[in-house]
Amino acid sequence: MSAPLLDARSVTMRFGGVVALRDVCVAQMAGETLGMIGPNGSGKTTFVNVITGHLAPTSGAVDFAGRPLLGRKPHRIADAGLTRTYQAVRVFRELTVRDNIATALVDAEAPLARAEVDEAIGWLALGGRLDAVAGGLTLYEQRRLELLMRLVQRPKLIMLDEPVGGLSSVEVRAMIGLLAELKSRCSVFVIEHTMKVIRELADRVVVLLAGEKIADGPPAEILTDQRVIEKYLGSADA
Ligand SMILES: Nc1ncnc2c1ncn2[C@@H]1O[C@H](COP(=O)(O)OP(=O)(O)O)[C@@H](O)[C@H]1O
Ligand SMILES: [Mg+2]
Repeated sequence: MSAPLLDARSVTMRFGGVVALRDVCVAQMAGETLGMIGPNGSGKTTFVNVITGHLAPTSGAVDFAGRPLLGRKPHRIADAGLTRTYQAVRVFRELTVRDNIATALVDAEAPLARAEVDEAIGWLALGGRLDAVAGGLTLYEQRRLELLMRLVQRPKLIMLDEPVGGLSSVEVRAMIGLLAELKSRCSVFVIEHTMKVIRELADRVVVLLAGEKIADGPPAEILTDQRVIEKYLGSADA
């Protein structure tokens, strides 16, 4: 069997007395879509922060594309092809869409070529918004812009932290369609509370509870698991 694209082993993250992650092991193959679910405060965002170099874990090891990641800065990790979006969308609110894209291109080591950028702009339906100031966009447009800014940097794996958070049900449906297509552009890791996203997109789902991985398997199995239902799904947007 080939090696995983992402291989996180026994990752532990303590904040003072709080153990946000305890011995978490997660492996993801190239081309696989991995979902991560769990109650608020269970460590999902912390996991992405550790993997993408925004936090140094207390202990553990992380390999990406066969090379160790820990100790590298986020922009170095992005250059290696591993990137993320944020739970609270992050774009440069004072800049136009065009300038946000330009910033992402300048920051990348191996950005997409102009024609590929134009294709991605069209795919995300942002062509008509290039001169708009990002802070004036709808949340759904901002989420698409943030995704575009990562895509033009040519990621191998993109980690999405609640990509449909705050969207209307119509927008959620549309975003699920985009994310289904995103899977043919790069590998996708997705944190979500909206189970429709997990059911429709994930090949495998990992459940975190109070910093520990309590389940890992195909959505059909995990989303009907009695313990997962008791500990989490009873309260989630299932
Ligand atoms: N930078 C930080 N400093 C201190 N505590 C943190 C920090 N980031 C997260 N935590 C704590 O770690 C736990 C997990 O948080 P988080 O990863 O944001 O959970 P989730 O994304 O699953 O809602 C929470 O108890 C949170 O308060
Ligand atoms: Mg979070």
